[in-house]
Amino acid sequence: MTDIQVLKGHIIYTKEKDAFEVHENSYIVIKEGTVRGIHDTLPEVYRYVPVMDYGNALIIPSFIDLHIHAPQYMQMGVGLNLGLIDWLNQYTFKNEAKFEDVAYAKKVYPRFVDALYQNGTLRSCIFATIHKESTRELVKALENKRLSAYVGKVNMNQNAPDELLETTEESIRETMGFIEAIGDSEYVKPIITPRFAPSCTSDLMHQLGQLSHDRSIPIQTHLAETKREIDWVMSLFPDSKNYSHVYKDHQLYGDQKSLMAHTIYLSEDELEMAKNDNIFLVHCPNSNLNLTSGIMPVTTCIDKGLQVGMGSDVGAGHKIGMHHTITSAIQCSKMRHVLNPEERILKESEAFYLATKMNGRFFGKVGSFEEGYLFDALIVKDPDDLIEELTPLERLQRFLYCGGPDSIIGRYLEGCSI
Ligand code: GUN
Ligand code: FE
Repeated sequence: MTDIQVLKGHIIYTKEKDAFEVHENSYIVIKEGTVRGIHDTLPEVYRYVPVMDYGNALIIPSFIDLHIHAPQYMQMGVGLNLGLIDWLNQYTFKNEAKFEDVAYAKKVYPRFVDALYQNGTLRSCIFATIHKESTRELVKALENKRLSAYVGKVNMNQNAPDELLETTEESIRETMGFIEAIGDSEYVKPIITPRFAPSCTSDLMHQLGQLSHDRSIPIQTHLAETKREIDWVMSLFPDSKNYSHVYKDHQLYGDQKSLMAHTIYLSEDELEMAKNDNIFLVHCPNSNLNLTSGIMPVTTCIDKGLQVGMGSDVGAGHKIGMHHTITSAIQCSKMRHVLNPEERILKESEAFYLATKMNGRFFGKVGSFEEGYLFDALIVKDPDDLIEELTPLERLQRFLYCGGPDSIIGRYLEGCSI
């Protein structure tokens, strides 16, 4: 029974979006990194397995971030008085150009990865910059910390300062080089990452779409984040029916698993497209508030049966911890509800479900503690012992709104303590 582990504590997760599953003082049995079952008394067959007893701590699925920019780590909170396009031009592109220097990447990326680890984000989908060698430093930092991620070398060949532009040929060559360099890394996989339509010519997007198709590599980009951006995209690509079609017309939408960040302003046609093409819409509420982008109609999208995940979108988002994204999504849905009472509020269980089980779908069977799921987990214990005045579910609520790294006392990825 050496491949069996048993952990004890207050186990909480979301099998369905509408309710938390709460198992107080229970045992979770894990075999070869995969959940086998949850029991309130430990079955006889496991009597010789040592129990890892976490006492009064919570055992919850670890967090997954479906949209985050690693190079923007040092830029979090800076220049957020601007809207998206001005923020990109005045701060972000200048900051990202610094990653031409691999020595700079070696300083920033381990700090970024440590912040993911500290905040309990054990899997993520990450934008790097256009620079292949610096992006490899990000991969190394993730591997060193044993965090799972999809990492994209960003593609940009127009509408940015010269120092952040590639030729089409360079962009494809370096992307292929990056994919080769990752090889069969145990922790990190490549993802095709055209920054957003304004940054890429039609020729570049066609070639990226082909590459994604030929190698079965997923795609991540931005879609319909602000009105000004949408007008710009439609003027750059007048032959496409709408913004979503700009990507679809280049095989960058739905041919492979596709993450579309923001999606605040999708038309009815585009919502239908997203549903038919199994697109992951990634809600990034903190970023949307900070850049005055708008608020995604998240419950409307969920109720239409769309796949909705969540991202911190650091650095336009100012907090790495996904518990901040969860609570911000709830707050944002409340404000939409105030302005339009027909739109319902996102429940707590639902927001938690998005950041764990829904986001986990992008990685496979992760984000839940149902049988057959990989055991990715956080052990959560508020440092203040008065916390025991609260029920386990109330403690989780308090952690989501007020907690942070100080409350995370253990981390498991696929059954391994990391
Ligand atoms: N659209 C294109 N690039 C970016 C970026 O870096 N952040 C956000 N929030 N939106 C973008
Ligand atoms: Fe983003």
